[in-house]
Amino acid sequence: MSTSAKKPLPIAVLISGTGRSLKNLIEKIRAGELDAEIRLVIASTARAHGLQYAEMANIPIKVIERSSFESDETFSREVFKHCTEMKVRYVIMAGYLRLLTIPEEYEGRVINIHPSLIPAFCGKGMYGHRVHEEALRYGVKVSGCTVHFVNNHYDDGPVILQKVVPVFSSDTPQTLNDRVFYDAECVAYPEAIQLLAEERVHLNGRKVIIDEQ
Ligand code: GRF
Repeated sequence: MSTSAKKPLPIAVLISGTGRSLKNLIEKIRAGELDAEIRLVIASTARAHGLQYAEMANIPIKVIERSSFESDETFSREVFKHCTEMKVRYVIMAGYLRLLTIPEEYEGRVINIHPSLIPAFCGKGMYGHRVHEEALRYGVKVSGCTVHFVNNHYDDGPVILQKVVPVFSSDTPQTLNDRVFYDAECVAYPEAIQLLAEERVHLNGRKVIIDEQ
């Protein structure tokens, strides 16, 4: 982690479900391993269990449901309006299951993590256990996770970093999910956000260049 006296990177975290990724980020920040401040958690449904982690950490919460809006555009505008109000630098999707229309001022500022090595097993409808079922059905020998910039298509933006885990013949979707989450995602997401905090991530077309230390 950077030893400079820089202010922590202000971020918003977007969730839809259990919030395991949110919990992990909160823990890494507490442990001093991630120079970020979660200024806001936005959930796509009031039923998102992950809201409990935001509450426990006294992080402001907003529930913004797609069904309250006429179009993806008006829904997305509302999401980003709150991010702007909280002056966040990056919007971090952590198990967020809604497609957002990204306004120009947020291009290159929205990040997602996907539980496979993109471009394998990704795209619309590929989330949760479905990803691991497909990986096992195909018979791949490695899987992992991908942290990437978000554009207006599912799992399509420039790759920031990827982490690989082995796939064993005895794996079930659940065991592979656990290995990808705990051994890859829990490490890769904080690592990628820390790189952003240290301003070491640069976009060059669809390629991401990381400054070596
Ligand atoms: C992770 O597998 C991540 O790759 C995907 O959503 C999952 C986390 O969701 N984008 P949650 O934190 O358990 O709700």
